[in-house]
Amino acid sequence: MVKPLRKAVLPVAGLGTRFLPATKATAKEMLPVVDKPLIQYAVEEARAAGIEQFCFVTGRGKAALVEHFDIAFELEQTLLERNKQAELDLLNDMKVEPGSIVTVRQQVPLGLGHAIWCARAFIGEDPFAILLPDDLVLADTPCLAQLAEAYQRTGGNVVAVTEVPPEQTNRYGILKIGKDDGRMVEVTGLVEKPAPKDAPSNLSIIGRYVLLPEVIDHLARMERGAGNEVQLTDGMARMIGNSPFHGLRYEGRRFDCGDKVGFLEAQIAFALKRDDMAPAVRDFLKTYIKDCI
Ligand code: UTP
Repeated sequence: MVKPLRKAVLPVAGLGTRFLPATKATAKEMLPVVDKPLIQYAVEEARAAGIEQFCFVTGRGKAALVEHFDIAFELEQTLLERNKQAELDLLNDMKVEPGSIVTVRQQVPLGLGHAIWCARAFIGEDPFAILLPDDLVLADTPCLAQLAEAYQRTGGNVVAVTEVPPEQTNRYGILKIGKDDGRMVEVTGLVEKPAPKDAPSNLSIIGRYVLLPEVIDHLARMERGAGNEVQLTDGMARMIGNSPFHGLRYEGRRFDCGDKVGFLEAQIAFALKRDDMAPAVRDFLKTYIKDCI
């Protein structure tokens, strides 16, 4: 029997140096796309995939991320007194079950693999999802729900993958692939940030994973990989051959919100999905682009 997927780890302890000075005193994951912080998109996507328990791996200056999911008593009282029902509904919709969010601290950001290892007590013996909040996926079926369905079918590790330009393999975790049915690919190897000439493919992992708990034992070796960081990719690579491992070409479009251009693209794409904003944004783009190009 495949164990149900109920837990998610959200690593949010990175320094966000590419967004300085915005991230000097604010967590990168609190930056909003349109009007919602990245962390909220990630939590909503996880809930839509059946996740019930969340672990934020945090660091210094990240308190607002946890605060964001607490009750804002005075604000809610004021909104009530002012009859602001629509705003109150927004806050009510994002309420999570009491006790469903825990945090662990990654005192020093030694890499994504180290961040996940920090959540080992939360993970225990259960399969778990990982969502990197700075990867935002616009999709009809939320990306993690697609992965969760693939996990149910295979009972093993599943990562969301997409083709990247061959010259960009040195930015991502890259798959070596076996059988490929066009949507699911069998993973036979994983390399973190290979130079284009060494890359086994141009299929890259994005920030959505469903993993078996055994990965923690491999991460516990604390081996340093690319960038002298403890890489999640290296820990995952050690599971290949011991348990099923697949890449899923998810349906949807990914925006790398850890990158300034990706972040701007996400603002536009998500605004264009909003009935209340799309006409004005479209008008602006039409005239602005005409003037600029
Ligand atoms: P990034 O590679 O985007 O790093 O991390 P970063 O520090 O957030 O941003 P830059 O590159 O300095 O601008 C990917 C994800 O992994 C988390 C980050 O918070 C982000 O969600 N992470 C990374 C950790 O939690 N701990 C780490 O040690 C490294």
